[in-house]
Amino acid sequence: MSRDYRWECQKAIWRGIEVVFTGAEYLWGWFFPDPKIIDGPGAIKKLPAKIKEDGKKKVLIVTDKGLMSLNLLDGLFEAMKAEGVAYEVYDDVQPNPSIENVENALKLYNSTGCEAIVAVGGGSPMDCAKGVMARVARPTSTVKNLGAFVFQVTAPISSLPHLTFNGYLPPKLYAVPTTAGTGSETTIAAVITDMETHDKFPITDPLIRASVAVLDPELTVGLPKKITSTTGLDALTHAVEGYTNIWYNDKKFNELGKEAVKLIFQWLEVAYNDPTNLEARQQMLLASYNAGMCFTRGGVGYVHGIGHRLGGLYGIPHGLAMATILTHVFQDDFLFPYTYEKLAELADAVGITGNSKREKAKKFIAEIRAMEDRMEIPTGFSEIRDEDIPIIAERCMAETNPTYPVPHIFTKEDLEVFIKEHLQIKE
Ligand SMILES: NC(=O)c1ccc[n+]([C@@H]2O[C@H](COP(=O)([O-])OP(=O)(O)OC[C@H]3O[C@@H](n4cnc5c(N)ncnc54)[C@H](O)[C@@H]3O)[C@@H](O)[C@H]2O)c1
Ligand SMILES: [Fe+2]
Repeated sequence: MSRDYRWECQKAIWRGIEVVFTGAEYLWGWFFPDPKIIDGPGAIKKLPAKIKEDGKKKVLIVTDKGLMSLNLLDGLFEAMKAEGVAYEVYDDVQPNPSIENVENALKLYNSTGCEAIVAVGGGSPMDCAKGVMARVARPTSTVKNLGAFVFQVTAPISSLPHLTFNGYLPPKLYAVPTTAGTGSETTIAAVITDMETHDKFPITDPLIRASVAVLDPELTVGLPKKITSTTGLDALTHAVEGYTNIWYNDKKFNELGKEAVKLIFQWLEVAYNDPTNLEARQQMLLASYNAGMCFTRGGVGYVHGIGHRLGGLYGIPHGLAMATILTHVFQDDFLFPYTYEKLAELADAVGITGNSKREKAKKFIAEIRAMEDRMEIPTGFSEIRDEDIPIIAERCMAETNPTYPVPHIFTKEDLEVFIKEHLQIKE
């Protein structure tokens, strides 16, 4: 069998699996409702009443040390006490949360008799909390196994013998994002880092979705400029990758992606330049949520496939990786020929004009880069070492295919050239 023929067969198999996932995505959309949103300034203080209404007496709060030192959770703690809801705090989550973070938080959850989880923070605490949910549901599995393939919490054939009635359903999650953001408060994914292999992997399952998302703009006014810009561009990446992918998305989710792009074009730089502007902060939380909805159905793609490797190998923050890679992926020699028609629709949504779809799409990508320049986003990474490029390409292939319905399936060699020519900065 020739190499070309094998490659074509491989791609056809991946596309076939993606089509099967399409059906699964529609099905779970019926069974797993979207999180209930509590929003507005001070919304976090309303959460304990909701927890009490749900009958939960004790919760594990998952957060990080940075947020604790900023006293960002004080309002929540007071409202918990006022409502008589007991809590334990796990605040050791590191950026790019690790398997150890999940296991340690799980131990605290189990040893203190918690009944639900509240995650307060950016994607890292929210994903760590979702990892704990998965492990509570699958006490005999491992974080790695739960991330080995999609839907391993819902239908893990390998774990079926271990199913127990009590262990089956994960606890409820109340998610409070403090960045805008990852959209993790609505997505079905938790991205975890394996510190041994220095790689990140997603646990993807509707059972680890939050039941409640608190979108409180007062929590994000203290975000440093750099985190405001990079996390906002992470949300933009979710919307653009979700929108331009080829399966899964239907009208509702495409519209949410488009809405997110519009909001980010309108409000991200306002929030960046005027951090205490509560309207900008609220609109960015909404944009992040909508973008999370869009990619939960449409999937992400090469920006994430490569960016996760940079987080795992070099500890590069997720948002910074996304912001830096995004516009490169939509260039002429990579995804542009396969995506320009959809990019032109996004250009229309933000009022960019042009004589052809190609021209509009080009201007759309150029405008994102101009926005990034104004917010001092770098154009590449000096961390990328020559010897790592094949590993980055290989792991990107493994994450992207067949889970994400990318507009075009590139070979490992294509990816290596792309990383070398577009992303690596030689010092
Ligand atoms: N589950 C998903 O669907 C999904 C989607 C995208 C990204 N992710 C993951 O999310 C993680 C990144 O999350 P992130 O970008 O939100 O960053 P993060 O949670 O890692 O936080 C980054 C830093 O910002 C600080 N911070 C957070 N909120 C703050 C606030 N309001 N004020 C001041 N400082 C604040 C934190 O203390 C931390 O030091 C990555 O691991 C990424 O892979 C998950
Ligand atoms: Fe992301």
